This record gives sequence, structure tokens and C-alpha cells, in this order.
Amino acid sequence: MTVYLVGAGPGDPDLLTLKAVKILNKADVVIYDRLANEKILDHAPQAELIYVGKKAGEHYKNQNEINQILINAAKNYNMVVRLKGGDPFVFGRGGEEMLALLEEGIVVDIIPGVTSAVGVPTSVGLPVTHRGVATSLTIVTGHEDPTKSEKQVKWDFKADTIIILMGVGRLEDNTHELMKYKDPKTPVCVIEQGTMPDQRIITGTLENISQKNINPPALVIIGSVVDIFKKARL
Ligand SMILES: C[S@@+](CC[C@H](N)C(=O)[O-])C[C@H]1O[C@@H](n2cnc3c(N)ncnc32)[C@H](O)[C@@H]1O
Repeated sequence: MTVYLVGAGPGDPDLLTLKAVKILNKADVVIYDRLANEKILDHAPQAELIYVGKKAGEHYKNQNEINQILINAAKNYNMVVRLKGGDPFVFGRGGEEMLALLEEGIVVDIIPGVTSAVGVPTSVGLPVTHRGVATSLTIVTGHEDPTKSEKQVKWDFKADTIIILMGVGRLEDNTHELMKYKDPKTPVCVIEQGTMPDQRIITGTLENISQKNINPPALVIIGSVVDIFKKARL
């Protein structure tokens, strides 16, 4: 009984790692939530598939319920795969699942995935660091848990490049906060559905990006590296 926490990458099924493919191939059960591309499940032809994501009109499983499903699966199956978009430990709650399993004495193995935070900009030719332009990078959630007693995100980042995940719903508020510390003309690039056939790229500045029509899932990349991307596209 081993649970493999496996990163599924940002969407394009060809961005799965070889190790993930090998493990999926041998899996007895795959527990997954909303995946950018369900073709990834074709790598687990003999596995039972358990969906734990949101479904219209149905109760959405909370993290404790998902942890319990993983624990039960580990007790009943030999090879359990918990498949997660991108990398399991980048805003994926993989750390919480790992700790819950370890507390039950269950063996956990973690297979990293290509995180959307870096993989998506890279795939379009937007370098998140660039010699002489950006030497540091912050990856932040745009949707901090509203039940937290105190906010951890202050938006006064010093890094040259800022990448916001889950940033569509509160883009206006978050860019407003950032403009307290950064030039309103700072370039911004939004990539919707990165690495997927419906990918869209929208560019603007901190002061106007929230006025553009943007739909999730999307990454928001802020900083002078966006100009490198624009130069490369010319
Ligand atoms: C809950 S987080 C999970 C991140 C994931 N663990 C990772 O490493 O990429 C979901 C957010 O990741 C970003 N995201 C994931 N896949 C994406 C894609 N293909 N294109 C753009 N953004 C994506 C979006 O900001 C989305 O709201």
C-alpha cells in the first residue's frame, strides 16, 4: 500500500513525466479532480477511477473527505495514484494529503509535475527570469483562503517577476493592491488554458489588465519579462 502523489502537468498530456506514465500504467486506482486533460487517464487502463472534484448539482468533497478517501484506498489497494494538476505541491494541497497519509503509517511517494506557474509561460516563450531583467520570482495565490484569521498575502513583493495563480476572480482588487508598490505601467501577460488547444494570451499593464475579458484557468505574469516575450513574438 503506497500512495503516489503524481503531478499531471499543466494540461498538454505530452507534458506528463515518464515516471508519472510508468506509475499510472501500474495503478490499481486513480483518484483525481478536475484535470485540464482527461486523456492523461488513458495511461491507467486497468485502474478504478475515482473523481473527487466539483460536479454540477453535487456535493463538493472537502479536503478532509478527500484525505479519508485516500486513506481508505491505501488500505484496500496496492498502488494508489492521487493525480493532481501541475505539481502536487504548488497550490495543490499535496502537502496536506501527504501528512494525513503519513499519520496513518501509509507510505507516500511524490512524483513532481510541470507546474503551470513556470511551464505555461515557458511554453509560450515567456522566460520567468532573464539575465539583466529579472533575477527573482514570486508565485502567489490570487485567492487567499477567506476563512484565514489573518491575511498572509500583503502584495508588497520585492521580486522582479510576480506570477499569480487562481488570479482571475480578484484580478481588479489584486492589481489595485500591487499598484501601491509598483508602477501602474508595469507590463502584464495573462495566459488562459495554457498548453491547451484553447490557449489565449492577453497582454496589458497593471492599470488596465483587469478591464480585459479573462476567463479561468489563467496565469497572470507581471514584470519586465513580459517585454522579452513581446520582443520574441515580433
Ligand atoms: C489550484 S491551482 C493548482 C496549480 C497546480 N498545482 C500547478 O502546479 O500548476 C490552479 C491554478 O493554476 C493555474 N493553472 C493551472 N493550469 C493552468 C493552465 N493550463 N493555464 C493557465 N493557468 C493554469 C490557474 O491559475 C489555476 O487557477
